[in-house]
Amino acid sequence: MTVIAHISDLHVSRFHFDEDVFMQAVSEINDLQPDMIILTGDITSDGYYKQFEQATKYLELFEAPLFAVPGNHDARNLGYLTFEELIGEKSWKLTMGDELTVIGLDSSSPDENRGHIGSPQHMWLEHQLDECVINENFSIIALHHHVISIPQTGRERNVLSDAGDILKTLTTHEVDLVLSGHKHVPNIWKINNTIVVNAGSLCSTKLRGKINNSYNVYNINKEEIEIFLHNVGGEKFLFGKYPRNKL
Ligand SMILES: [Fe+2]
Ligand SMILES: [Fe+2]
Repeated sequence: MTVIAHISDLHVSRFHFDEDVFMQAVSEINDLQPDMIILTGDITSDGYYKQFEQATKYLELFEAPLFAVPGNHDARNLGYLTFEELIGEKSWKLTMGDELTVIGLDSSSPDENRGHIGSPQHMWLEHQLDECVINENFSIIALHHHVISIPQTGRERNVLSDAGDILKTLTTHEVDLVLSGHKHVPNIWKINNTIVVNAGSLCSTKLRGKINNSYNVYNINKEEIEIFLHNVGGEKFLFGKYPRNKL
């Protein structure tokens, strides 16, 4: 079984980051010993160099390998350059064994809140997903912005501007899991054979109503995918369970 922890929207900063909640989450996730951690952006609140320096120190506390994509907040104040210097590539592909492929996409644009993938990255994604189909890999896409609107988030503003075309590519290639953040609200949609999951905010104080700080855990085995929602310092529960597309 492969275990993946999905965290998002840390918002490292003076005002929107709850260090106690973060440390609790680190301890819980390290106890789970996941195979990897996927972080879907908004690592910082303003993209400042100092916030990224602080964030790298926090992220080092996780024991599992961690892979991150940038969020709209990370792309502010030249943060899109700092991300590459201190965190890593903004879009990437990794394969685990010969069965699992994870692709990170950069949906951010400098100093803009909107999400956008754009033609060059879309073409690259198509090519990578063609390979996943040929190799019959379990495929996961990680990006900050949501591809489908999320309930309880008010007026829609930041769904990917090229959501329709990206969604078409994801579903026709039967991508198994699409992981996003941005709205600070956990959610699952299933479109055709693709499960589209949003993570809540791990440790930011920017929460809607009574929604808690949380993270998602995916248990992937040969038959099924279990998705657990963990409230930091609180309950965990089964959020969704789906049969695998490719057996
Ligand atoms: Fe955020
Ligand atoms: Fe965001």
